[in-house]
Amino acid sequence: MPALGLGTWQVTGDGCRKAVSDALEIGYRHIDTAQAYENEAEVGEALAESDVAREDIFLVTKVWPSNLDPESLPRSVERSLEKLGVDYVDLLYIHWPAGGFEMNATMEALLAQQDEGRARRLGVSNFTPDLLEAAMERAPLFALQVEYHPFLSQHELIGMCRSHDLLFTSYSPLARGDVPADETLQAIGEAHGKTAAQVALRWQVQQDRVAAVPKASSAEHRRANFEIFDFELSEEEMSAIFDLARGERIIAPDALAPPAWG
Ligand SMILES: NC(=O)c1ccc[n+]([C@@H]2O[C@H](COP(=O)([O-])OP(=O)(O)OC[C@H]3O[C@@H](n4cnc5c(N)ncnc54)[C@H](OP(=O)(O)O)[C@@H]3O)[C@@H](O)[C@H]2O)c1
Repeated sequence: MPALGLGTWQVTGDGCRKAVSDALEIGYRHIDTAQAYENEAEVGEALAESDVAREDIFLVTKVWPSNLDPESLPRSVERSLEKLGVDYVDLLYIHWPAGGFEMNATMEALLAQQDEGRARRLGVSNFTPDLLEAAMERAPLFALQVEYHPFLSQHELIGMCRSHDLLFTSYSPLARGDVPADETLQAIGEAHGKTAAQVALRWQVQQDRVAAVPKASSAEHRRANFEIFDFELSEEEMSAIFDLARGERIIAPDALAPPAWG
């Protein structure tokens, strides 16, 4: 899985098709969508129009909570594949442990998607350490996707991913726009000729097993976010960024967030 992907939440319609086409041209090979983003069809159009071969693209989608019961899950994945215009996704996540989610039944239905070839790999999103532990006992998981940026530590979950050989994907890696204004990140960026956003993304992908999927509806941001592989943060800079953690969880919708988040 490429360490940097394009997030597509709230990028819809023709703007989505253009964003994904442009990203593929820039060099992105990891595209993050979801049933709930209502843009799988436009992501699919961009893939179909692109010269990049299907097998060179790491395509990710996520099953929405209302589709997590064993009857709905396979049908919803079929619909996703139809919209995306592909035979398989590279990674299929459970989006939230909510709605029709039931640990045994949902994990079994998810595993069947891999057995039937619709999903090359399986993952879970927005799982707490306890839920992740339970899910790992029921299916071979490839990745966990949760909110992660300099203002929210995910020390425990990243540690679990490392010890169980899972990849960890950061969502909202720019804290939905809070990162660019941070003075510490800006100062570190100045030393490298980079912006605060580039520093935050570099800090993430420089960590073992961590990937990030920043959303960028502007072409300028998409290009900038991809330019993080030509510099390196020192140990001191990495730890100064770890010190920015302040428990800032931005995404915690009432009906979806696990009770353990408070
Ligand atoms: N699994 C889940 O439950 C879940 C939840 C949330 C998000 N996600 C995934 O994670 C992706 C990213 O998260 P997100 O969309 O919440 O937020 P984000 O990536 O942290 O932030 C996006 C915001 O940052 C701006 N931005 C992007 N690049 C920038 C740059 N180089 N400099 C300054 N500003 C920049 C964007 O502006 P422009 O758009 O104007 O370019 C947008 O306003 C989503 O799109 C989605 O794929 C998953």
